[in-house]
Amino acid sequence: MTSGLQAKAVVITAGPTYEDLDPVRFLGNRSSGRMGFAVAQAATDAGARVILVAGPCQQDCPQVSERIDVRSALQMREQVMRHIEGCDIFIGCAAVADYRPAETSDKKIKKDGGDLMLRLVQNPDILAEVAALPKRPFTVGFAAETNDIETHALRKLRHKKLDMIAANQVGEGRGFDCCDNALLLLYPDGRKQPLPTQAKCSLAGRLVDEIAAEYQRIHNPH
Ligand code: C5P
Repeated sequence: MTSGLQAKAVVITAGPTYEDLDPVRFLGNRSSGRMGFAVAQAATDAGARVILVAGPCQQDCPQVSERIDVRSALQMREQVMRHIEGCDIFIGCAAVADYRPAETSDKKIKKDGGDLMLRLVQNPDILAEVAALPKRPFTVGFAAETNDIETHALRKLRHKKLDMIAANQVGEGRGFDCCDNALLLLYPDGRKQPLPTQAKCSLAGRLVDEIAAEYQRIHNPH
């Protein structure tokens, strides 16, 4: 265990978001929240005061200063923005839905014998919004990719103006809803750091060590 984040305020998002179609149906994704919860626990172990903003997931709750449960991307954004002031580090682990239904029906949608067209509208990008704040925290994103991991992750790092991105491969039996994971960390100056396959809790510890080291490097260069 390190104490690299002693007294730092850290906000972490985790899990999926659910975008409601009607009172019984939603659009969701396969994120289990395991990685985000493991990162929250590792940040607490490293001495941070952690606020965890969690989408719907069944994981055992990590030790955190505060856990805020949300359902949709809009609710997640509201809670992140409410708690981001004075925060030193933001880690966006959540698999936020890129789109939500343009309308949510307050009654169960009935089939009427024909096809149903769904119109989706774009959700805000919480991570990019945090990175664009005038007094932004050190901002870390995740990139779950099925292919060309490094290229896609690098594009996101630059486009969203992040301080670090943790890229990982997802697909059958990889990344989502499993216990092991591997990460490739990328930095804006072109540095790369692979973290090899290991249990998500040990990987989260390694990631938090890297975040603490990079935060120190930027804030106390000597
Ligand atoms: O663009 P993509 O969804 O792959 O980016 C992944 C990163 O961006 C993750 O860190 C995720 O938490 C964050 N994100 C976000 N808000 C969105 C979409 C993604 O914070 N609407």
